[in-house]
Order: sequence, then C-alpha cells, then structure tokens
Amino acid sequence: MGAAPGYGAEVPDLRATVTAARDALARVGVEGPDAEVLAAHVLGTTLGDLRMRMLLGADLEEEDARTLGALVARRGEREPLQHLTGEAHFRHATLAVGPGVFTPRPETEVLVDHALAMADAAGRAPIVVDACAGSGAVAIAIATERTDARVLAVELSDDAIAWTRRNVAALAPAIELVQGDVAELDALLPAVVGAVDVLVSNPPYVPTAAVPRDAEVRLHDPALALYSGDDGLDVVRALASVGARMVRDGGGIALEHGEEQGGAVRAVLAAAGWHEATTHPDLTGRDRVTTARR
Ligand SMILES: C[S@@+](CC[C@H](N)C(=O)[O-])C[C@H]1O[C@@H](n2cnc3c(N)ncnc32)[C@H](O)[C@@H]1O
Repeated sequence: MGAAPGYGAEVPDLRATVTAARDALARVGVEGPDAEVLAAHVLGTTLGDLRMRMLLGADLEEEDARTLGALVARRGEREPLQHLTGEAHFRHATLAVGPGVFTPRPETEVLVDHALAMADAAGRAPIVVDACAGSGAVAIAIATERTDARVLAVELSDDAIAWTRRNVAALAPAIELVQGDVAELDALLPAVVGAVDVLVSNPPYVPTAAVPRDAEVRLHDPALALYSGDDGLDVVRALASVGARMVRDGGGIALEHGEEQGGAVRAVLAAAGWHEATTHPDLTGRDRVTTARR
C-alpha cells in the first residue's frame, strides 16, 4: 500500500492520486468523473474495478502515475475526454473517436429513438439513410439495433470519414458508406431514390457567428461538423429539399437541431412539402429533434 502523497511516498497511492487529479480538474472547471475515467483508461480496466481498487488501497505504478498526470494535464487544457481515451460510448456501441471527427453526444441518442420508431412504422425491413454520419454513431446504432434494416450513410469530410470507415468496419460492416455532400443525396445514393423509409441526420446547425461556449467544442470539434450558414440551417434546408425526393410516400425524416431552432426547422420542412412536422424534447426537456412525414 502506498504512503500518503507529499510525504516522500515511494509508491503512489491510487486513491490519493485520483483524488488529487479530480481536485486539480475541478479547480479549472472540469467537473465529473474524468479523473477516474482517465485512471481506468491508463490501467486498462473498468470504472467499477478502478473504484474497487481505490477502496482496497491499491498502489499505482510510477509509470502509470506519470501517464495519468500527462492525460490529466491535457484534460485541464480542455482536450475532450473522449480524445484522450480514444473512445466514445453511444447507446450500445463504443466508437473510436479523435481529432477530425465530431464526438457523439448523449442527446443524439434521442434522435436514434425517433428514427427507430419511424423504422418500425415502415412495417417492413426498413431502408434508413444517415446523412452527416461523422463517427458513424447514428448509422451504427440503427444497424445494430434494427438488424433487418438496410442502412446507408453519407459523410463529406476526409478527416471524419476515416473514423466512420473504421467504426463501420469494426461494428456494422453491412452499412453502405458513401463520401459526398448530402445536398446531392439523390446522386450519391441513386439506388434508393424514392425508396427510403427514414432519413435521419444530426447535421451541423450552429449559426456561423455563434461561437460555442465550451472550449472542448470550440477548439476540438471540426468546424464542418458545427457551422451551417448565417442561421445554422443551410444543411437542414438541403436535407429537407433532397430528402423529399429520397423518402417514399409515408416515410419520415428525423433531424437534430439547436433548442431554439424547432420552429424554423418545422417551417423549412413544411415549405419543402413535408407533413406533420413535430418537435420533440430531449432527455433534459429541451427541443432538440424534429420529425416529419413525407
Ligand atoms: C454534428 S456532426 C454529427 C456526426 C454524427 N452523426 C453524430 O451524431 O455524432 C455533423 C457531421 O456532418 C458532416 N457534414 C457537414 N456538412 C456536410 C455535408 N454537406 N454533407 C455531408 N456531411 C456533412 C460533418 O463533417 C460532421 O461529421
């Protein structure tokens, strides 16, 4: 068992080291279990096992203590936790993420719920298109949770699609992944024009002039994943328009957006000929998803 820190300890004590890391992160405004997550990552174990080891008064190898110290310093500089561990959890999947790709968010799990409900309503093995795939989070969730679905995914960015390819290959290799601009969805996916049951997207939707508050987002999410014109709705407009040609009569569209954008997104969809545009709250009660029927 290690001696108390700061008293000439020869072997660092795990609990004291993790507690000190948590305090150091809290002092720079990083709250939450990040120190423990990083410690578990360094030790190659689970959070539950890490907590057990802390309770049992386990030691920490000096090299692991140094590695953890370096990661905690980077987290203190607001590098996203997921870039430091190299993974993000989304529904049942663990996705590889890092520089160049948008880190999937918990609120997008609600978008998947709506897409799956629309897929159910198809009453057959559904055809689902994930426009703006990023890490592949949405497409992979749908492909693995609705195993009879034919899932196609589109991503524009060279950097992001390298991560999409990696995650699709590892987790849902049947997904048909295409690189290109979703404004040209019909040219990119000619085989399913007019046959899609669900078009789902978490597009970029931040207005160009609105700078995100969190440094993790501002500095580490790719600009192409965040910004979309003066009102943030350029890609939404493109999807509403091309989507009306892609989706079969009675099929649906599900779009994530900012909490103030529900009314504008409903108006865009209605103008493009979609019916029953409805905005739904996320897990925290904020309007973050709008669905509509073709
Ligand atoms: C907000 S991220 C969402 C990623 C992923 N679907 C998720 O929910 O975590 C938006 C993604 O759309 C991509 N993108 C932006 N504009 C695009 C366009 N015109 N065509 C295709 N992909 C685009 C970005 O590169 C980024 O990966």
